[in-house]
Amino acid sequence: MSTVSAPSTGVGPEDIFKMASGFWVSKALFSALELGLFETLSNQPQTAEALAAALRLPVASVDRLVSVLRGLGLVRAESNRLSNTPGTEAFLVRRSPTFIGGIFHHFNDDLYPLWQHLPDALRSGRTMWKQAFGPDASDNPFETMYADPARLEGFLRTMAALAAPAEHDFCQHFDFSGHACVMDVGAALGTLVVKVLSSHAHLRGITFDLPPVAPLTQAFVQQAGLADRAQIASGDMFVDPLPRGADLITLSFIVHDWDDDHCVQLLSRCFEALERNGEIAILEKVLHEDRGGPLPTALMSLNMLIATGGKERTETEYAALLGRAGFIETRVLPLPGPRDVVIARKP
Ligand SMILES: C[S@@+](CC[C@H](N)C(=O)[O-])C[C@H]1O[C@@H](n2cnc3c(N)ncnc32)[C@H](O)[C@@H]1O
Repeated sequence: MSTVSAPSTGVGPEDIFKMASGFWVSKALFSALELGLFETLSNQPQTAEALAAALRLPVASVDRLVSVLRGLGLVRAESNRLSNTPGTEAFLVRRSPTFIGGIFHHFNDDLYPLWQHLPDALRSGRTMWKQAFGPDASDNPFETMYADPARLEGFLRTMAALAAPAEHDFCQHFDFSGHACVMDVGAALGTLVVKVLSSHAHLRGITFDLPPVAPLTQAFVQQAGLADRAQIASGDMFVDPLPRGADLITLSFIVHDWDDDHCVQLLSRCFEALERNGEIAILEKVLHEDRGGPLPTALMSLNMLIATGGKERTETEYAALLGRAGFIETRVLPLPGPRDVVIARKP
């Protein structure tokens, strides 16, 4: 197996040190968000002293943290006043519609302790919830997150912001002309259906996700003015009947959450629900056939091992799963952004 995306010039001690201390960056970012630093700077540019007073922290501590945040491009200093950079304002301030910090609880409180057990996960090939959190811990991350309404909403908002570029690419590059009804399974807030329906007036849509998600999806779809063209359905996609009538089913960042047997079960249920000649479109970043990258996808695959029992896959692996569920003609539509589309047809 080749190594993942090693720089062609080779790796020196400084590169290795940077890799080894990567968690310093995550922890600085999580701490700044938790302490309310970005919120405070968003309200008004401040001197370090005023920021320290607002956060009730020693100035010396704020100085250290701000140095890091400036180095990361998250905060800037002009005429002795600190302010957020535009990216921070868009993605790290809670009132912004594109805030992505809602998932940091999950990263810091769930994933960080889980990653402590990576060697055991690699040995056993299993998730590490019980090792990290004790024998009573659920090994279903959605159950854990959705038990708290604030974490549920934070997760869904983050997913919405992270999915936006891929959904935009999908709307631009996928051929919807032969379709009448798209059903997004694991739809979260319903952003994919909203974008597809907004850009393709001839389509109807259906969203399907777990019951706690439905009221938020309902509100989002209503706000987009699409309530008359979109049906909001809910249930467990492995147990409950999937709505009928779709001739295109999408699964975006769903398949990588599950092991092969769960995927075949889910794809078979989609196969049953789909109209004859209908298509399935799986939005995931596809691993290179030799598994040599892309690096973010390879890292995500490790995360899936620890957190969900899923994995990232190559085109050949997607074709095998889809074939087991009855689909034919698997092909990949590569997209410029963070997800590709794996397409197959129900004969
Ligand atoms: C990683 S998120 C992806 C969300 C969205 N499709 C996107 O691209 O951002 C996985 C989604 O699957 C949903 N999900 C997880 N288990 C499910 C189940 N058993 N039945 C239905 N939906 C489920 C979650 O609620 C969540 O919205």
